[in-house]
Amino acid sequence: MLIAIRVLALILILVLGGLWGAAWMGRDPGEGVAEAFLRRIGSFVGADMPAPAAGGVQLPQGLALGGPFSLVDQTGRAVTEADFAGRNLLVYFGFTYCPDVCPTELGTIAAAIDEMGELGDRVTPVLITIDPERDTPEALADYVSRFHPRMVGLTGTAEQVAAAARAYRVFYAKVQRPEMSAYLMDHSSFIYLVGPDGRVRTLFRPESTPEAIAQSVRAHLRGS
Ligand code: NI
Repeated sequence: MLIAIRVLALILILVLGGLWGAAWMGRDPGEGVAEAFLRRIGSFVGADMPAPAAGGVQLPQGLALGGPFSLVDQTGRAVTEADFAGRNLLVYFGFTYCPDVCPTELGTIAAAIDEMGELGDRVTPVLITIDPERDTPEALADYVSRFHPRMVGLTGTAEQVAAAARAYRVFYAKVQRPEMSAYLMDHSSFIYLVGPDGRVRTLFRPESTPEAIAQSVRAHLRGS
């Protein structure tokens, strides 16, 4: 047993060492080894991890996030990506029962849009739930209105939501603890800037400031 653990540890060290070496050799200009290392691990475990950059996270070349989806909005209307064509979106995947992270990030999105002044009118805030079981259109309508008057809430069947999350490489899972009466959702927590073609332009890490997001979105809007 002990030997098995040692062998496993050795294999792990070799793999990680190899990835570190590969990261050192293959890092992008200006990219730190640690960041390149994380990116390597990401590609090793099959999750393309974007390389961090100032303002937003720069997507690796060839990685396309976003695209077609089929969901239901907070008024109960069936919508697809075509309904948002030509608009810039700040998209967040979360759920209304989230105790802290989701409200914080949705508040940040609303603050970033306000921070942009008139330019902010060109950006639509969107919450896509990863908890369609509880997040009905009615529940979403009430929830999104608390953050921003123009915020859109999207839900759907479990399959529709799973497909949308896949397109954005969003991870989520139900968490049920014995001491809790209601379940929680574990989920990744990036904010996505989606361009008029429905493709993700950049993403923002959790706890990005409204100012940093506003600055980056402004630059993208001026460039497009
Ligand atoms: Ni959350």
